[in-house]
Order: sequence, then C-alpha cells, then structure tokens
Amino acid sequence: MKNTFNVLLLILLCLSCNTTKTEVKKINKRGLISNHGMVVSARVEASQIGVDILKKGGNAFDAMAATGLALAVAYPFAGNLGGGGFMVYRKANGDIGGIDYREKAPLTATKNMYLDENGEVIPNKSTLGSLAVGVPGSIAGIFEVHERFGNLPMKDILEPVIALASKGVVVTKNQANRFNNYQNQFRLVNKDSLLFYKVWKENDTIKYPALAKTLERILKNGKDEFYKGKTAKILVKFLQENGGIITEEDLANYTAKWRTPIAFNYDNLKIISMAPPSSGGICLAQIMKMIEPYDLSKYGANSLKSIQVITEAERRAYADRSYYLGDPDFVSIPTDELISNTYLKSRMSDFSFEKATSSADVSHGNIEVVESNETTHYSIVDQFGNAVSVTTTLNGAYGSKLYCSELGFFLNNEMDDFSSKPGVPNMFGLIGAEANSIAPEKRMLSSMTPTIVEKKGKLFMSVGTPGGSTIITSVLQTILNVHEYNMSMQEAVDAPRFHHQWLPDVIQMEPNSFDKNLIIQLQNKGYIINEKDSPVIGKVDGIMVLTDKTLEGGADHRGDDTAVGF
Ligand code: GLY
Repeated sequence: MKNTFNVLLLILLCLSCNTTKTEVKKINKRGLISNHGMVVSARVEASQIGVDILKKGGNAFDAMAATGLALAVAYPFAGNLGGGGFMVYRKANGDIGGIDYREKAPLTATKNMYLDENGEVIPNKSTLGSLAVGVPGSIAGIFEVHERFGNLPMKDILEPVIALASKGVVVTKNQANRFNNYQNQFRLVNKDSLLFYKVWKENDTIKYPALAKTLERILKNGKDEFYKGKTAKILVKFLQENGGIITEEDLANYTAKWRTPIAFNYDNLKIISMAPPSSGGICLAQIMKMIEPYDLSKYGANSLKSIQVITEAERRAYADRSYYLGDPDFVSIPTDELISNTYLKSRMSDFSFEKATSSADVSHGNIEVVESNETTHYSIVDQFGNAVSVTTTLNGAYGSKLYCSELGFFLNNEMDDFSSKPGVPNMFGLIGAEANSIAPEKRMLSSMTPTIVEKKGKLFMSVGTPGGSTIITSVLQTILNVHEYNMSMQEAVDAPRFHHQWLPDVIQMEPNSFDKNLIIQLQNKGYIINEKDSPVIGKVDGIMVLTDKTLEGGADHRGDDTAVGF
C-alpha cells in the first residue's frame, strides 16, 4: 500500500513538473508600443526621419528610402551609399516581394584576383582598399523601390537627410569607440587626411558637408547622378587613383533586381525571407524545417535540448550553404530540393540527443572564425499595413576603410564575400565553393536575412540583423523566441544568442549569458563551446504586430538601436 502511495505521489510530482515546464512564459518586458507606424533602426536619427516620412503620409517604401539614406549619414559604420543590400516586403494586401541591390564584381574582375603566383590568398587584398570594392547598389535599390511603390516625391525624402548631414550627427559612446578603434586601418588605406582622424568623443557633433552635396546632386539628377553623372566620375577617378578597377561602364551597367522571396511555413507561421544571392532565406528555411518536428516550446528557450536541435540543424544547413549557393544569375541552385521536407528529414536522420554530430562527418574543413558585427538592419511597418525588412551593408566595419572625402562616404569591401579560393574561409570564417567564385558582374553570396513573418495569414513580424555569418541564426532565434518561447518582441531581441555554422565545429555563445551547468552538459555531449570570440552575436531590430493590432518594437540593447513610432 505504502509503495502504491509512493508511486502515485511520484506520478503526481512528475505531472506537476511537466506542467511547470510547459507553462506559458509570462511577458515581463515590452518594447515601444505604437498604434500606427514604426521604424526600428541602428540610430535614433534614422528611425525618426523614417517615422516623420510616415507621418507626412509616406508609406513604408518611402520610409525605407529615407531611413536607409539617413543611416548613411548617422551610421557610417554600416549605413551606406557605397554598399548594397536587400529588402523583403509585404504589402497591406498580402503581396510579397524582394529586391536585390547587392554589389557586383567589376567587369575586369577575375576568379583568381586575390591569389598570388602560388595560388595562395593574398592577405587583406579582398578586405582592405580599393581592390576590395564591389560596384555599389544602394542608390539603385532605393530609387527602384521608391519608383515602384513610393507615395511621396524624392524631395520630401531626401531633404531631411541632407539637413541631417549639414547640421551634423551627435557621436554616441559606441560610435566614438568605433571611430577610434579603426584609426590605424583608416590611415593604412587612405592617402587623404580624413574627417575621422580627429579623435571624436561622445557628444561631439560631426557634420558631413561633402555627403550633403552628393545627396543634393542626387536629389537634382536622380539615380543617374550616382551611376552616370558627376558623382560617378568623381568616384571612378578616386577608386582608380587608389589602385581600383571599377570603371564608369561598371557603374552605368549596374541595376537592382526584383527577386521572388523564399517563403515557407513553420507551424502556423509563414516565413518570407531573401532569395539568393542571399543565402538567408534558403538557410533559414532549411534550419526551421529541420527543427519543426521537435517540441522546442516544451524544451524551453536556451535549454540543453533546444540548443542541441538548433545547433545540429544549423550545422547541416551551413554545410549546404557553402556548397550550393551563389548568384542565381550565374549558377543553378536546387532551391526546391534543398528546402524539401524529404531532404531535410533525411538530413537530420543521424541526429541524436546523446552525442554531437561531428562537422567532419558532414563535410571537411578546419578553419578559424573571425567574428564580426557589421552590416545594419531596419524594420518598418506603416499606418497602411505595409511592412518592409531591409538589411544593408558595407560588409566589414566601414567597408574597405576607403573613404572618398570629396563625396563623403565609405566604399564597401564586399568582394570578400566571394570565395577567393574555394575551401578558404572569408572574414566571417565561411567557406565558399565554386558556386560563389568570382566572375565579372556576378553578385557575391550574402548572409543577410531581412525577413517578414505572417501568422495565420496576417502580418506578424518584420525582423533582421547585422552580424555576418551569424545573421541567419540570430533571425532564427528571434522568431523562435517569440513563437516557441512566448517572448515579447523586446525580450526576443534581448535574449542571449548562440551560433553554429558547420565550420569551425564550435558553438559560439555570447559570453557570460548562458548557464555554466548548461555549458558543461553540452561539452559532455561533445560540443565545443567558444564564449570568447563573440562578445555580441547580431543586433536585431524587429517589429511585432500584437493581437490588439498595436505594434511592438524590439530595438537591440547591444547597440544604439532605437524604435520610433506614432
Ligand atoms: N557582408 C555580409 C553579408 O552580406 O552577409
């Protein structure tokens, strides 16, 4: 009898344990709540300019142009005229689409342009200075979006941005540190004396008169000013004087391209993300479909089992990324096969909770990762119900570090996102294969993952992040934090993040953010943990539509990111 009683007690205890585990988590913290429209970006000035455009009657596409251009002024670290990006949109009527304004390789680029006579990669050649620069796409993309979907004249969009450049931008503490940290590289690359050689301190104001003049000419002459006009001529002369190979023909030939996004279902969500040449959409689809059969909400956020399942799916998806993905205008990508349920089920068939899979059993390689947190993302939802998700980049911090003082902007080092030599890692530690080798006018593979999520057929989230190779996994974790673990948008963005990218075979974790016992448990199962090299993983900016139709912003506390709404 006593035994029976004990067994019953045990069963009751176990049941109550399970109930506690699966109990729905309470929301403790919300981000900014707004009723009509919202912009979340890396700088308050850019978010404010975007919201002012919405208040003026502009839509999300007008605000996309304004916010993107304002980031080029307020956030030269990654905001840009000299780089490129991607946007995914969902209109109020449910139409979805994407635009690719990724940089392209110049016409005279060659497959082996970064190799020496022994076939070895020449250090820094694809990352520093003018040979690292791809043909910029940002102005083409912004004008294309505005022309197709904008409501307001370009004058209304550009004037506040020009005013910001003339009036100047207040330096934040983060920004002052960054300017100072990159001094040596600026001096190594540039012949001129730069605006950034001065030691800028927090609360100083930097004015950008040269950039204001460039933007004034763009306002007067449109997109052609950048690609065929005076600006094009100044830019090409500058690049060539610095040993670059971009010509006036390269600029004149550049066009942005509309792309059909990668869209897939996960539970009752529809995820809409960027198609190649970004790897974001396919990789995200692969990972989410591989983890969908597992009961993540029961395992809990950042629990042992959740981390294991997500890591193993990431390992497998990143191995495919390296092999199959590149510019779809140059290589044939088996997208349907890569994201088919049958294939992904078979991909996870050797996963076990008992022991880590070794990346050597998925493919080969032995590399060092150099973590980085460049690029920038912004999310916008307007008062009409349109949503955009935009990620734009110079690639590295301040791109190639080459700054055209006459025009007032940095040039990208996006050529490093090609695989200079298949099998050799780029600055994010990502190994590329033939599909991503260099060819004239080809676009380099990206990890940027601007994403929009629908829930039960309605707009639910706009989300994205910088972070190089960690972009895809940061977007993934933010969506899961909301959907599986019942976090608010702000909590989802703030939660600690981890990352695995197949090679190197380590889980990167934000330092001092994960429980020590959890780390030991993972190590006991064969996972190698690296908490040193990634002080920050991603800097996510997102917007969620709440059940009462208000908008919640999630602005990442890891940066100066700010949500502004009305
Ligand atoms: N340059 C970073 C990316 O495109 O993923």
